[in-house]
Amino acid sequence: MTGATIIDGKAFAAGLRTRIATQVATFREQTGRAPGLAVVLVGEDPASSVYVRSKGKATREAGMESIEHRLPADTDQATLLTLVEQLNQDPTVDGILVQLPLPGQIDAQAVIQAIDPDKDVDGFHPVNAGRLATGSEGFVPCTPLGCLMLLKSIHPSLSGMDAVVVGRSNIVGKPMAQLLLGESCTVTVAHSRTRNLAEVVGRADIVVAAVGVPGLVKGEWIKPGASVIDVGINRTETGLVGDVDYDTAATRAGAITPVPGGVGPMTIAVLLRNTLVSAGRREG
Ligand code: GUN
Repeated sequence: MTGATIIDGKAFAAGLRTRIATQVATFREQTGRAPGLAVVLVGEDPASSVYVRSKGKATREAGMESIEHRLPADTDQATLLTLVEQLNQDPTVDGILVQLPLPGQIDAQAVIQAIDPDKDVDGFHPVNAGRLATGSEGFVPCTPLGCLMLLKSIHPSLSGMDAVVVGRSNIVGKPMAQLLLGESCTVTVAHSRTRNLAEVVGRADIVVAAVGVPGLVKGEWIKPGASVIDVGINRTETGLVGDVDYDTAATRAGAITPVPGGVGPMTIAVLLRNTLVSAGRREG
């Protein structure tokens, strides 16, 4: 038995990408150039290589310029910083994404801080984290912004709702909490040291799970009717699973994202959106 609305992130992302492609075509007519996204990959981590390839493909499919830089795994920090500076200065580049994780000899924070905050379409620069926290215009990390779009497709107003974010990473948990606060939710951030997670999750109208632990959030914990967004993508012997025990959660939730096909496809779609927004600001 499942009463929950299954939130089809794959279809939502496809629709968003179609709308972006239309806006890119208009941008090209008006400016005579395509928005450009530079993606930098250091080394040959297989998962990162797959991500970078699919980002490049999606960028081109949207009618944007994909500028790809693949550097060897033993690249030193100075070389990478020089490349970032070159991309900062390049007027054909609207967005810069340095794929994480970076090899051990490179200080990832130093690289992120070298990116021009106004080209930081990942939203990882501390200036953009500060802008999000203070409600000023910047770039919001793609995955949490994609989660918010899915939530708003179910609840156009989130005002006053109790939201629990499980996970406190800089990439998902913290920006997700800021976004929900910006929507006037009452926000709790839970994490590995949280006492009585079951009770905390059980109070929530909105649960966003982003911890990377398969099935950590039990279905029985979910308040009947709650909306559940599962950011987890965990490879297990039984295939890809999320951070939420989906089968049980789906019998209690009002709406829930599947894994795969939920949050995952939104990340690239929002990256394209952020790049188009950046190009528009640069021309405006
Ligand atoms: N590695 C895994 N996800 C991401 C992402 O969204 N951006 C970057 N730069 N690296 C990643």
